[in-house]
Amino acid sequence: MPRGAFITFEGSEGCGKSTQVLRLAARLEQAGVRTLVTREPGGTAIGEKIRDLLQFAPESFAMTPETEVLLFSASRSQLVRETIQPALAQGTFVISDRFFDSTTVYQGVARKLPPEIVETLNAFAVGAARPDVTFILDIDVETARARMLRRVRPVAVHDRMEQEPDEFYERVCEGYRALATREPDRFIVVDGRQSPDAIESEIWNALPTRLSAFASHPQSKIENPKSKM
Ligand code: TMP
Repeated sequence: MPRGAFITFEGSEGCGKSTQVLRLAARLEQAGVRTLVTREPGGTAIGEKIRDLLQFAPESFAMTPETEVLLFSASRSQLVRETIQPALAQGTFVISDRFFDSTTVYQGVARKLPPEIVETLNAFAVGAARPDVTFILDIDVETARARMLRRVRPVAVHDRMEQEPDEFYERVCEGYRALATREPDRFIVVDGRQSPDAIESEIWNALPTRLSAFASHPQSKIENPKSKM
């Protein structure tokens, strides 16, 4: 059984990636491709506990950047071995809402932890499970902040990361753009200020151009628009 494709979505808060993850999964399923959706931090019972600790627990406000990067890595190493690797091995396509690029950008670039330590932790956490294609939904800080404020949440709930200042999010947005230039074969940057429908079409049309290795996959009935020209 050929391995499934591994697709990840990245971007700043409010970039719309969670909506696009679900839309792409629905399109793949419609095309006959078995698809599994997951997210980071989280995606497993252990990971969801870590997510809660990282984002909402009152104790998390005392968390050091070193503890933070280890917790994100812990959640990831569990997700890879419990969920992602077994699914890919069964030929299932996996779509993850964030993966190790989030650590590179948030902990490495925005928190300014040493890049070589972040890279080592990322490599240790993911093993051989590296994404085949990664979509970055690019937005500016003003758009990100406006969308964060529009999020509907219980009044008492504050997301720890969302309380970071605009300079932090400037570094996040810039960090993603820099990553995309470093690895142009893996990343596809999409303008996240477009309508959800326009983003969905752009992603769907771009996918086959990067997943050519999966053309002979028994599940792959995704048509390459370029092959019809
Ligand atoms: P979100 O996926 O709902 O946007 O929330 C996850 C938050 O955690 C977001 O602020 C980005 C942050 N994050 C990191 O800082 N490092 C990581 O490695 C991951 C996966 C997420």
